[in-house]
Amino acid sequence: MSNEQVLILGGGLMGLAIAHHLARRGCSVTVLSRRRNEAAGFVAAGMLAPHAEGLTGDLLRLGQLSLERIPRWVAQIEADSGLPCGLRATGIVVPFKDAKERDRYATAAFGEALNRQRLEQLLPGIAPDWKAGLLFDQDGQIDNRRQLMRALESACVDRGVNFQEGVEVLNLLKHDGRLYGVRTRDSEGLLSTLTCTKAVLCSGAWSAQLLPELPVFPVKGQMVSLQTPRGALRHVIFGPGTYLVPREDGLVVVGATSEPEAGFNEGLTPQGQKSLNQGIAALLPDAVNWPPMERWWGFRPCTPDEGPLLGQGPIPGLWLACGHHRNGVLLAAITTELLADAITHQATSSEATRMLHAFRWDRFAD
Ligand code: GLY
Repeated sequence: MSNEQVLILGGGLMGLAIAHHLARRGCSVTVLSRRRNEAAGFVAAGMLAPHAEGLTGDLLRLGQLSLERIPRWVAQIEADSGLPCGLRATGIVVPFKDAKERDRYATAAFGEALNRQRLEQLLPGIAPDWKAGLLFDQDGQIDNRRQLMRALESACVDRGVNFQEGVEVLNLLKHDGRLYGVRTRDSEGLLSTLTCTKAVLCSGAWSAQLLPELPVFPVKGQMVSLQTPRGALRHVIFGPGTYLVPREDGLVVVGATSEPEAGFNEGLTPQGQKSLNQGIAALLPDAVNWPPMERWWGFRPCTPDEGPLLGQGPIPGLWLACGHHRNGVLLAAITTELLADAITHQATSSEATRMLHAFRWDRFAD
C-alpha cells in the first residue's frame, strides 16, 4: 500500500482509470475536471481493436498488452462500482475488396482469413463489392459511453477518490525545477492554488494548452448511433473510414470522421454526417434505413506518430497519460498499470520499462 497524494488533471476516461487504480493502491487522489462532457470517453465507440485497427510496432504491442488486461481491469471496476461496464466479445470483422488487399493488411497474421461466402455468413447484408475479410475474434468492444464511464466514476467514489468538478487548471507551478502545485479557476471564477508533488496530466486533446511542449493536437470525429432490427448485426464491422459497433440492446454506434483541419471547432457538419452515411451505405446498404438515434462529436488527442505520451513529463513530479488518439479505450488498462507502477515505485517488468521508453513524451526529437 502507498500513502502518496496525487492530483489527476482531467476527469476523462484516462483520468478516472488512473485515479481508480491509484486509489486501489492506497494513494490519496483528487481529480480536477473542467467539463465532464468534453471527455473522449463519452465520445469514442469503445472498440478494443489493436488488430482490426492494423496497428504496428510498439503501438500494436501496447494494444495487445492492454487487451490482455481488460477483463481483469473491468472486473475490478465492476466489483467496486456494482455496475456493469458492457464488455462484449463480439469479435471484429475487417472487409477488403480482394484477397490480395486482405493478405497485405498489417495485422493479417493475427486474424482468420475470410472469403466472400464466410464474410456474408458473419455479416449478412454486406455490400457485394467486399470479397474478402479478416475476423479478429480476440478484439471486442465495451460500452464506454453509457456504461464504462459511469461505472468507473462510481468505482472511484467507492475507493475514496475526491472530485473537484468545473475546475480548470490554469498553470503548473514549479519550485527548484520540480512540480509543487497547480493554479486553478473554478466555475465562479475563483482562483486557487493546490499544492502537490505528484500530478498526472490526462487532459486529452487539451494537454498542450497546459504544457505547450507536448505535441498533442485535436482530431475531430463525428458519430451517429442507429437503432437496428433485433440481431441484424452480431460483429463489429471495421471498414475503411467507417465502423459499425453493435451494442447489446440493438443500438449500433457508427464512427467516425477524422478531421484534423477542424481544430477545436465544435459541432456537427452536413459534410461530416454525409460522409458517415456514405460509409454506412458502402458497407451495409440496408443500414441506411435504420433510424438514427443520436449524433455527436469529439476531439481525439493525437500526436505526430499517433502513439500516446506516457510516463514522466518535462517537469519532475508531473506524469503524462495523454495523446491516445484512436485507441484511448483500448489502452486505458495498460496505461493505468504503467503509470500506477511508476508513480508508486512498484517494480516493473522489462517490457513495462521498454513501453515507457517507447512512448516517452520527447521521442519526437530523436
Ligand atoms: N477508435 C476509433 C476512432 O477513433 O474513430
